[in-house]
Amino acid sequence: MPIEELISILADGSIHSGEALGVSLGISRVAVWKRLKKLDDIGVEVETIKGKGYRLVDSLELLSADRINELSRENTRTFISEIEIFFQINSTNTWLIERVRSAGINGVVCLAEQQTAGRGRRGRQWHSPFGRNIYMSVGWEFSQGAAALEGLSLAVGVAMARALSSAGVSGLALKWPNDLLCHGKKLAGVLLEMSGDASGSCSVVVGIGLNVDMKSEQGDNIDQPWVDVASAVGSGVSRNLLLATILDELLPLLASYQDQGFSRYQQEWNSLDALSGQLVELHGPVTSSLDGIAQGVDDTGALRIKTSAGIRLIKGGEVSLRKRSVF
Ligand code: BTN
Repeated sequence: MPIEELISILADGSIHSGEALGVSLGISRVAVWKRLKKLDDIGVEVETIKGKGYRLVDSLELLSADRINELSRENTRTFISEIEIFFQINSTNTWLIERVRSAGINGVVCLAEQQTAGRGRRGRQWHSPFGRNIYMSVGWEFSQGAAALEGLSLAVGVAMARALSSAGVSGLALKWPNDLLCHGKKLAGVLLEMSGDASGSCSVVVGIGLNVDMKSEQGDNIDQPWVDVASAVGSGVSRNLLLATILDELLPLLASYQDQGFSRYQQEWNSLDALSGQLVELHGPVTSSLDGIAQGVDDTGALRIKTSAGIRLIKGGEVSLRKRSVF
């Protein structure tokens, strides 16, 4: 993208004259101006300081593989094979899924400043404005088939909660299967996609979307109450540091999951359960609507719902869960 270099220069938050920008980029001042307009198109606001030049309205910490490596634990780095950072991509999950066909994805971390077709669960769009949030996908290869990975997406939710708690976020809760809430509002979501053999080797793409520092108007299209890390902790946050903290939790989990399974995360998941003891309503393409009282998850990550006909176990899949106020 021709604007990458321009953003990288402006990211320091200082004023840069049109002339100096032109020299650094090797283009005319008119061409600089055209590129500045393109920044506006992707939602990066630039202000003109009369007689002096241009600067970003909000400072921007660009994603950096070097910073993430520096800030993560030594053990974490041993699990990372590559960190790919895109300024703009359709979806980090889609990029890794396409890569499965041609190359290995084990330990590949794909990040983007902006997604043009970010995907959420149940076919939803994941809103992905430039430079404000975390859009990350991590690839991992497993050898013992999909059954050994039961509950993995819930365990990823636990890893996210641990990372955000150590970043100072309080009021965290998990809504089955893997929405991360902060004081009841959506802070992050996980989209896990698998391909391969049901009983042999399979590749998993763990997609994580985390709201970090979004302007309220940038979240106007989000169809549920949401919150970001900056407002949860009441100060600015470093996306590179958050990423390192998340990878410190996530990569050891992926490396040990096949041998250890969900049971070691069950208790922690249940202690974070947003809907425990509440009336809920389940909808899905196979299950007709089901009402009951949510009673946490079992040691495979299946949701336990107490209904008039007894306990029903709900496995993952495309179901949606809503809190009900009355029967
Ligand atoms: C959800 O619906 O709660 C899951 C959202 C997952 C969004 C992330 S952003 C990075 C990765 N790439 C995508 O297209 N989706 C996931």
